[in-house]
Amino acid sequence: MSALQLTSPLAAPVYIGLMSGTSLDGVDGALAAFPDDYGGGPVQTLASAYVPFPDELRAEMLALQTAGENEIHREALLANILAGYYGRCVAELLAQAGLTPQQVAAIGVHGQTIRHRPELGFTRQTNNPALLAELSGIDVVADFRSRDIAAGGQGAPLVPAFHQAVFSAPDTIRVVANIGGISNISVLPPRDERDGGTMKVSGFDTGPGNVLMDAWIGKHLGQAYDRNGDWAAGGTVLPALLEILRSESFFNLPPPKSTGRDLFHLDWLLDQLAKAAFKDTPAHARDVQTTLAAFTATTLADAIARYAPGAATVHVCGGGACNHHLMRQLQDALDRCQAGISVDTTAALGMPPNHVESLAFAWLAQRFCLRRAGNLPAVTGARGERILGALYPA
Ligand SMILES: Nc1ncnc2c1ncn2[C@@H]1O[C@H](COP(=O)(O)OP(=O)(O)OP(=O)(O)O)[C@@H](O)[C@H]1O
Ligand SMILES: [Mg+2]
Repeated sequence: MSALQLTSPLAAPVYIGLMSGTSLDGVDGALAAFPDDYGGGPVQTLASAYVPFPDELRAEMLALQTAGENEIHREALLANILAGYYGRCVAELLAQAGLTPQQVAAIGVHGQTIRHRPELGFTRQTNNPALLAELSGIDVVADFRSRDIAAGGQGAPLVPAFHQAVFSAPDTIRVVANIGGISNISVLPPRDERDGGTMKVSGFDTGPGNVLMDAWIGKHLGQAYDRNGDWAAGGTVLPALLEILRSESFFNLPPPKSTGRDLFHLDWLLDQLAKAAFKDTPAHARDVQTTLAAFTATTLADAIARYAPGAATVHVCGGGACNHHLMRQLQDALDRCQAGISVDTTAALGMPPNHVESLAFAWLAQRFCLRRAGNLPAVTGARGERILGALYPA
């Protein structure tokens, strides 16, 4: 590390973060410098890149979410292909920043979740970090979630600690909502209270983000997602269906809690439609999309109103921040809860919504390299703070 600092033309060690989430859309990468004594405050993205996954790759990732034939073999091959996409993203980041691999301290790579079963003591993020180290010539830190689960935690969400470092305000409670495939919130106490005050950072998965909306528009219109939420915006909420969706027992569980495609997937949605005696005709397909947007928005708003009373704003990141209809629905749902909370994106706090999660993994890589804890036990439910990740040296 110290040798790197000496050779780096930059003032502080540089880290890369790579995130590919539940949406299975592609890999988001970001490159940023973190001084060794970084304790919080603004982070400037020095480069960012997005490498979309092709349809065949997405289909195989989706297939591996459930039990199937010859899984181990297929998963290993998928991991190799993924490492190639991660490597491409890294090459693009280096080119943009004008850096050599030797000038980067480490890559933090999340991998692709194919199973998340903390209640059974495991989570699996498909990845071949050894191959990524070979392809990139950079130290790779991977498998961030397993250690937290080994310590009795959910292994998720891991980003609230980063959200607190970057986004907390001196004197007000802020909420950061990441709307990826799944939605999660971080409730950030005022910074000045962090050490002396009683309020701790909290955070948990609130339920679906885009995952069901993506699945539904994929089934009906063959599109990967509902651009800007335009399709949903033209439909009508189906109240009976919304009530059935919202009756899922996950929403009554107290935090800490996490979820994923293991629960919220297309077959689950089809089961709920059957319960609602819904006839899947093209004429009504759009109304289901509108209802799914309301489902994401209202479950998020309920969680915020309940667990972040007194918050002034919710700052949204992740792909859902681009869904204008969803953003409006979230504001409306919060207004109905009379929470007095206004909705904005993290751009208002100086960080583009699509950089936040990848930068969090760059920061988690730094935490690992400095042998500092990456989890917040109050968030994940782990027995204590743990150093997260495993190193694959360049
Ligand atoms: N312009 C847009 N309009 C509507 N939705 C969008 C737009 N751009 C992205 N999205 C949605 O965002 C999703 C991708 O979001 P994101 O990459 O944050 O999620 P993710 O990969 O599941 O990540 P994570 O697990 O880190 O939260 C897409 O699948 C899509 O549903
Ligand atoms: Mg994504």
